[in-house]
Amino acid sequence: MASAKVFPPRTPGPARLVVLVSGSGTNLQALIDAAADSAFGAEIIAVGADRDGIAGLERAERAGLPAFVHRVKDFPARADWDRALTEAVAEHRPDLVVTAGFMKILGPEFIAAFAGRIVNTHPALLPAFPGAHGVTDALAYGVKVTGCTVHLVDAGVDTGPIIAQGVVEVTDADHADGGDALHERIKTVERQLLVEVVGRLAREGHRIEDRKVWIPA
Ligand code: GRF
Repeated sequence: MASAKVFPPRTPGPARLVVLVSGSGTNLQALIDAAADSAFGAEIIAVGADRDGIAGLERAERAGLPAFVHRVKDFPARADWDRALTEAVAEHRPDLVVTAGFMKILGPEFIAAFAGRIVNTHPALLPAFPGAHGVTDALAYGVKVTGCTVHLVDAGVDTGPIIAQGVVEVTDADHADGGDALHERIKTVERQLLVEVVGRLAREGHRIEDRKVWIPA
């Protein structure tokens, strides 16, 4: 049995979150809205992105949050991007890093720096349909239920320990529009689940043992 890794609740004061985004940032917005209530137990201290001109960055700006952008193509090698992203996030001394629609695979330096404290949300029921096309892969496979998974990030692609999952039914109509409506229904469940999980991790801490994530009741 692997030894347990324990992440205690942060005291005093709210847990510090850095959120990474690549797109519309509705999950980020849900966290911004939740963090407005001090009872949530966490505050967003910075937002990072891998691209410019995205709605997620506009949401950060509207909320008055510091933001930074590191684009892979601006670095000579992927490892340089990994180091720059790690340093940019570390500067904010986060308790938790949330990748909310961040469409880049994190590098080994980043994973090592924040091991056990990186929370990702994925729009499918892992371990089924990992990767960038979880919604359409599930649809193409013909599943009748799919959903979302909030999990810790490890070195693999969507392979880290699962914290919570939400289920969404697939309807016949979903096959007509390529999965857009299904993804929107998933995102509605996903935002609520992410907020609930991040709040609990922030307030209670967590323990990881043999791929199980335990949050004190
Ligand atoms: C979410 O469904 C996330 O799981 C997926 O991309 C979507 C991001 O949505 N990887 P948003 O940018 O938070 O609106």
